[in-house]
Amino acid sequence: MKISLPWRQSLTALAILTSISVASPAQSPRHKPAEPAWAHAAWMNKSLSPDERADLVMKQLTLDQKIDLLHGQGMPGWGKAKANAYLGNGGAGFVLGIPELGIPFIQMSDAAYGVRSSAMNGRYSTALPSNLGAAASWDTESACEYGALIGRELRAQGYNMTLGGGVNITREPRNGRTFEYQGEDPILAGTLVGNRIKCEQAQHVIGDIKHFAVNDQESGRNEVDSIIDKRSLRETDLLAFEIGISVGDPAAVMCSYNAINGDYACENHYTLTDVLRNDWHFKGFVLSDWGGTHSVLKASKAGLDNEQPEENFYGDTYKKAVQDGKISEAELNEHVHRILRSEFAAGLVDDPIRKSVVDVEAGFETAQRIEEHSIVLLKNSSNLLPLDKDSIKSIAIIGDHADMGMISGGGSAQVDPPGGYNPVWLSHVWFPTSPLKSIIAKAPTAKVLFDSGADTASAAALAKQSDVAIVFVNQWTSEGEDLKSLSLPNNQDALISAVAAANPKTVVVLETGTAVTMPWLDQVGAVTEAWYSGSKGAQAVANVLFGDVNPSAKLPMTFPRSEADLPHPTVVQPPPGAQGPSPVMHNEDAKATFSVTYSEGLKVGYKWYDAEKKPVLFPFGFGLSYTTFTYSDLQVTPGSSTSVSFKITNSGSRAGTEIAEVYAALPAVTNEPPKRLVGWSKVKLAPGESKTVSVAIDPKYLSVFDVAADQWKLTPGGYTFMVGGSSQDLPLTKAISIN
Ligand code: BGC
Repeated sequence: MKISLPWRQSLTALAILTSISVASPAQSPRHKPAEPAWAHAAWMNKSLSPDERADLVMKQLTLDQKIDLLHGQGMPGWGKAKANAYLGNGGAGFVLGIPELGIPFIQMSDAAYGVRSSAMNGRYSTALPSNLGAAASWDTESACEYGALIGRELRAQGYNMTLGGGVNITREPRNGRTFEYQGEDPILAGTLVGNRIKCEQAQHVIGDIKHFAVNDQESGRNEVDSIIDKRSLRETDLLAFEIGISVGDPAAVMCSYNAINGDYACENHYTLTDVLRNDWHFKGFVLSDWGGTHSVLKASKAGLDNEQPEENFYGDTYKKAVQDGKISEAELNEHVHRILRSEFAAGLVDDPIRKSVVDVEAGFETAQRIEEHSIVLLKNSSNLLPLDKDSIKSIAIIGDHADMGMISGGGSAQVDPPGGYNPVWLSHVWFPTSPLKSIIAKAPTAKVLFDSGADTASAAALAKQSDVAIVFVNQWTSEGEDLKSLSLPNNQDALISAVAAANPKTVVVLETGTAVTMPWLDQVGAVTEAWYSGSKGAQAVANVLFGDVNPSAKLPMTFPRSEADLPHPTVVQPPPGAQGPSPVMHNEDAKATFSVTYSEGLKVGYKWYDAEKKPVLFPFGFGLSYTTFTYSDLQVTPGSSTSVSFKITNSGSRAGTEIAEVYAALPAVTNEPPKRLVGWSKVKLAPGESKTVSVAIDPKYLSVFDVAADQWKLTPGGYTFMVGGSSQDLPLTKAISIN
């Protein structure tokens, strides 16, 4: 399909729709442009539903205009780059609008932890902490702020659709994209991504949830068939999406590269139609991951609405299939309807994008606040932390780039740092948030010296002559490749050991995209996990290290003791060189060429370690505070939603916030893993203060997916509720019977 509008007309129409001021000699500042003809069209009536409005527009459309809505127009550096350069906004993709009817172009940008490619486009974006990092806050309000900030910055930069919203659960912690997701528990992950999407979409951008589904590794992602039994699929990977969609109501779902149980995710009738549309009543549109479309007839029937970023299948080939009667008018219209109704539902038509200047200071504040809620204190021997700025005379700051910046996650999630340089794909990007400077600012009278750690002996010597050594270590991860191991790369384990041997008052600050192993754990005094910490990471870390912020975050994923303890799915026939993405297949008959069978099934994350009785380094839900909390008085009241209430007391001497976690063990007949997270509450307490907290448990969270009945079922029997501060520290237990 060619672009159906003459270039000049398209450009003028685009300018009207996005309110980009295009200087025209005929227009004086006082001259108001005439109202477009569509301004009073029937579908501009806001009292009609998005579905009614979409139907009214559809009556006006030609076949070519309908086909235009079904595919992208290339992206910079890929496909119709020329079209993109003229009409696209520099993002990952765009869909033509129907300017003469008031339907805007859909301008898409990646926006996992901030808007992508801003430097390339001469713009600026805030980098928030990684999605995984922010998930450690277990905080729905932070998730909302996260989404709202990205939504605002997308609009400011001329985009009206996000490609963020990753929620693939951490089935394999070596997955290179773990930092883009929300951890290993479907209820936590789904709730957080849903809140992010809800608030992002409230800014009138189309929200997206991805990668649907079971895209749990990058290795061979275009060829892999993810094999998983239906019950496990529904209760793990799909449950995160189900909750995310129900909370966030995204207008778009991105189907993933891999196949699921034999059919590619973008032509999988079970996931796209049986589950997404029929069971979950999703009304938005499904777009393919970039190059993830493999067919016309099969994909269309299965429920794929929009091919990105090109039109290998959903352009002329689709049109011909309609003309030849292979795809019915009704099927075509359904796809078109979903795209149009989503544009109305998300507010794209009524509130067109207006480019503006990003609020840099507000972005810094939000990024720092979220990071402060996300830093997990993993170890704190003899209360080494918080550091006392008045008594410490000397501090050694050690580590790669610790004088200048903190590392970020790569791939399509990459946010560009300010300064206008344009990172190449898969380069390591450090944000200019300097640990050294932040710590000097906290302890202005101490002698603070820096060593890059490149020479272990020199770093150890500096540590030896300092009161405290703070070692910043990093693990870079990215889309496109998985980690070979969970060890810190580049000799950093040896660096930490040497520094700790020289000075046991060693604090380790982890900048990682997933779990790491810690062979030096017994040697060091304190460990904090700062994740990929965003634009203001160093300031947030310094606030935690010096006690201006009392850490409250909890791990959203297990940190295992070694790779040997991970589940080992069965891999059949990996193609040679399966590591990393391979050429995209543009072939109607493309099939996944190897399979990974997730035989651990329901046992994802802590459920695996619990069931297999494997000790871990740090359990799911774990995180220390500078104060202590005690739990008492558990009451469980069954009802339409079971209510779990308990008392929590700050038994220490500092104000603090505790994330109180509620788990349930299901009746033995269900054959579920030993326990699952079913709720939590974040409680702020002054020293000595107590509060009674009540957590309402959604009945679905106590249910099992019954494959034969094809629905969730609550099994009558004995349920044990457990409450406490981590998945392995649950002091309160109560068994009840639910009928
Ligand atoms: C990634 C998506 C991303 C898209 C567009 C793909 O390679 O898997 O997550 O949104 O590219 O950049």
